[in-house]
Amino acid sequence: MIFHFFFFLTLLLLRPSPSAPASPSYPCKPPNHNLYPFCDSSLPIPTRASSLLSFLTLPDKLLFLSDNSSSLPRIGLTHYEWWSESLHGLAPNGPGVSFSSGPIPSSTVFPQVILATSSFNRRLWYDVATAIAAEARAMHNYGQAGLTFWAPNVNLFRDPRWGRGQETPGEDPAVAAAFASEYVKGLQGMDEKGGLMVSACCKHFAAYDLEKWGSFSRYNFNAVVTQQDMQDTYDPPFRSCIQQGKASCLMCSYNAVNGVPACASKSLLDRARKEWGFQGYITSDCDAVATIFEYQHYVKSAEDAAVDAIKAGVDINCGTYLKRHIASAIRLGKLKEKDLDSALLNLFSVQLRLGYFDGNPRKGKYGKLGPRDVCSAEHRNLALESARQGIVLLKNENKFLPLKKNVISSLAVVGPQAKDASNILGDYTGVPCNPKSIWDELKEYVQTTNYASGCDNVPCTTGDKFGEAVLAATKADFTVVITGLDLTQETEDLDRVSLLLPGKQMELVSSIATASRNAIVLVLTGGGPIDVSFAKNNPKIASILWIGYPGEAGPRALAEVIFGDVNPGGRLPITWYPESFTSVPMNDMNMRPDPSRGYPGRTYRFYTGDVVYGFGHGLSYTDFRHEFVSAPRNLNLPRLSRSIPIGKYRVLQQTARPDDIPVREVQGCDSLKFTVDVSVSNSGDVSGSHVVMLFWRPPGLIKGAPRKQLVGFDRIHVPRNRTVVTTFWIDPCDNLSIVDEYGDRILALGQHALMVENVEQLVSIEAS
Ligand SMILES: *[C@@H]1O[C@H](CO)[C@@H](O)[C@H](O)[C@H]1NC(C)=O
Ligand SMILES: *[C@@H]1O[C@H](CO)[C@@H](O)[C@H](O)[C@H]1NC(C)=O
Ligand SMILES: *[C@@H]1O[C@H](CO)[C@@H](O)[C@H](O)[C@H]1NC(C)=O
Repeated sequence: MIFHFFFFLTLLLLRPSPSAPASPSYPCKPPNHNLYPFCDSSLPIPTRASSLLSFLTLPDKLLFLSDNSSSLPRIGLTHYEWWSESLHGLAPNGPGVSFSSGPIPSSTVFPQVILATSSFNRRLWYDVATAIAAEARAMHNYGQAGLTFWAPNVNLFRDPRWGRGQETPGEDPAVAAAFASEYVKGLQGMDEKGGLMVSACCKHFAAYDLEKWGSFSRYNFNAVVTQQDMQDTYDPPFRSCIQQGKASCLMCSYNAVNGVPACASKSLLDRARKEWGFQGYITSDCDAVATIFEYQHYVKSAEDAAVDAIKAGVDINCGTYLKRHIASAIRLGKLKEKDLDSALLNLFSVQLRLGYFDGNPRKGKYGKLGPRDVCSAEHRNLALESARQGIVLLKNENKFLPLKKNVISSLAVVGPQAKDASNILGDYTGVPCNPKSIWDELKEYVQTTNYASGCDNVPCTTGDKFGEAVLAATKADFTVVITGLDLTQETEDLDRVSLLLPGKQMELVSSIATASRNAIVLVLTGGGPIDVSFAKNNPKIASILWIGYPGEAGPRALAEVIFGDVNPGGRLPITWYPESFTSVPMNDMNMRPDPSRGYPGRTYRFYTGDVVYGFGHGLSYTDFRHEFVSAPRNLNLPRLSRSIPIGKYRVLQQTARPDDIPVREVQGCDSLKFTVDVSVSNSGDVSGSHVVMLFWRPPGLIKGAPRKQLVGFDRIHVPRNRTVVTTFWIDPCDNLSIVDEYGDRILALGQHALMVENVEQLVSIEAS
């Protein structure tokens, strides 16, 4: 008691009073420090960046190579922390964000990215990122956040065990690419002159998606990736993040790619800067310069790791390794002082684009944003809408759901997560504005509601409390059981080893199903797929909902779905594999199957085995019918120009089928673009918002071709008894081409199929 009282008192005393809100520190303060040319906003950014550089000595420069960059009082530079996090709302995982150092105690916690992705709604992704940016600026204005955010995580969710898969936009490169560009555009709010509201960072480049598996850890892992997989699977989200999103930051990952640690790989980082036109700064993941030497043993000394990172194109190190080892590298003649200059210019340019050197941020373009703009009704509604649109209905026997809200007299709610408002938020989470538990929200709908945890926690190691839970279920009309994963099962540095429900959760669900008067509703939490075959096949488990980590408004959205105020329409952004998939080595980066060694391939594009639920699966309370309204049946490729060197062409000819054409030999790809109109009719009795997914299937039997590939998606609202038509643009050279073993795009001649749900339309591609 006493301890609590003092603790509370201390909090009160430490907390700045609202009348004197914390102000951020900033450079270029009048009356003297605003006179430097780098503070003059009328000058071009390169001029200002060079001006700042010209004031710095070598020891000064070293201070800027760490995320925690020190102040330089001599010229009025204040300390700047580069590392802030904003994955699905502001999060204190990086030291740049703090909920205790100013007047803003919490911020909106949006659904974790994997659930937001299942909405398949580009506009929603953009709007959420825009809201996060407003909260970020507001917190910056009160000294509680930086301006440089290390999100989004756009690594592909390649293996279902990955602990950070929850942070990503799923397993499909095209979906991840679309998410990446929407998120970055929304977050950065870039103006015509390249000015940024805040800075976003595409991470972790490249091929990072393993925390720990057997003797492999993310720190020492060497991802062996074929050119083919790199080109059509691992690269697209990053390419889009940079080219479409115009991200101002890129983070290199801990792992090596084909033998070279990512942060020491000039060829990798050059691909971003030179091939894709990346403009911004490159940061290492935290201590990912140290790991070049200490875990990857790629070089012989700390200095060499620092030198390799700088020479590869890293501009800043999350951590202090560069700061500590560059000076001696220069003394040893391994690096020249001027080798640091381009790194510093990249860093200063981004800060300049953020207006960091334009004086008091409270008087700048975004100066009005403050506490009122954080946790606003608008943002909390957006969090709710994102959860509503993300929730996936996996099973619904005989339209068991929705439950009839005014008819049901009693409901049992069972499960360790049901009363816990905090463990359904996912990782990289801040302090929610208005946390509610699933229990809180369900009891709003039913008069008599009783609760039993069933298990003490998610690991559920004993069945001691099953009796109590079974009793609660037998006393109620209906029962909702909430099970699944939380961060004890999957998070940073923690991959799963099994795809089954943790501990005795499966037994809990089955015993409740058996004992209940009516069939039950099973709600699953977590980012990674779960093998729930037992529930899929049990008729007493009539409905299954997946809610991912639905954010602070998720419990409300779930209750609305269960009682029919919202018609679910989310779709799985990942394949739900059976438990047998855990025999696949997690370190095998190949996407393509290899029957000769029993390797089944990965993701819906290549995987040849059984699934529990497939990519794109998701039901509705209504019925939709799809039809192709218009799509070409034939495409004629214009005369080919054989302009590429003949040697290269021979190689291609030998490996491809005779009638495959390298895309760069196709003349006028632009003129081949066509539209596909798909109509969606709602023949059920409720309105619904529906995801239309257009897949492509290449002509049969081409080695290395995907089984199918998503080439378009759209979320549309279809009122009951109505038909809505949606249009997709298809660029055959891009969307209907296959990447060969050399990383070149090939257009196959023959019968291609376009597919929406169970209807398909053949498109024949011929050369004239
Ligand atoms: C950042 O550096 C300053 C000294 O420049 C130090 O006082 C502070 O503790 C550091 N912050 C972190 C998060 O390491
Ligand atoms: C289809 O091709 C266009 C450009 O040619 C590209 O922007 C788009 O991302 C592709 N769509 C998919 C789903 O891959
Ligand atoms: C559905 O639409 C048709 C034609 O517009 C109309 O005749 C019919 O009454 C509608 N049915 C319902 C259930 O609204």
